[in-house]
Amino acid sequence: MTLKVTGLSAIRSGRTILSPTSLEIEPRGRTGVVGASGSGKSTLGHALIDDLRVQGLSVAHVPQSPDEALDPLRSMTFHWREAEVALGLMPGEADQTGLFKALGIEGADLRKRPWGWSRGMQQRFVIAMALIGIPDLIVLDEPTSALDPVVAAATMDLLSSFLKGKETAMILITHDLGLAARRVDTLIVMDAGNLVEQGRTKDILERPRTAAAKALSAHRSWMALPC
Ligand SMILES: Nc1ncnc2c1ncn2[C@@H]1O[C@H](COP(=O)(O)OP(=O)(O)OP(=O)(O)O)[C@@H](O)[C@H]1O
Ligand SMILES: [Mg+2]
Repeated sequence: MTLKVTGLSAIRSGRTILSPTSLEIEPRGRTGVVGASGSGKSTLGHALIDDLRVQGLSVAHVPQSPDEALDPLRSMTFHWREAEVALGLMPGEADQTGLFKALGIEGADLRKRPWGWSRGMQQRFVIAMALIGIPDLIVLDEPTSALDPVVAAATMDLLSSFLKGKETAMILITHDLGLAARRVDTLIVMDAGNLVEQGRTKDILERPRTAAAKALSAHRSWMALPC
């Protein structure tokens, strides 16, 4: 089923930070959202998630900062159980061992609170929680920002294999064009709260039309990045 949202917008402190935006996301679609810092990528992600959840669709979210997903006063075990309960699973039903092993956080102490784990471990824990169910859409906001390049590439490989054969669509919010070039088929370019360009990743990277896309693709070093 194609996911559709129309007229998403956001106003904060009297300022329009997201102009009315409509999107269609195909099942199994791999879409990147790129743009300069402050261009409205995360705002678009949040608005999209809220709208689709109101429509009754299941959307997994890996927020830009693990702080948005993890309560500093609760243990990691608590967070995991909450995620299972939210998906209607029994405690212990999700394949925690498999997910943790795949993400390289096996053996970490789940009795600890988030601040007892490194940022990179917290980020991978949040990604593991997002992979418990089979959502209609998974929105990943800078999912590898706290990871070193090798772990980042391994994490993206894991995501790709997790999504293989499933209907789940993916939105990858990033300012890392290397990541986008390798991982998504279509790109959305944001600039000052507006969706200014949309198309196939290859076309936008090689023949950008707008100033925002041109500025992003001018930095050709993205070709050399590992993931
Ligand atoms: N709650 C808020 N109140 C006021 N302004 C906000 C709020 N949330 C976001 N903004 C502003 O909206 C703009 C877009 O923010 P957003 O976080 O969506 O950008 P972004 O493209 O995700 O940036 P980054 O790449 O740095 O994560 C920014 O100028 C930001 O300061
Ligand atoms: Mg952001």
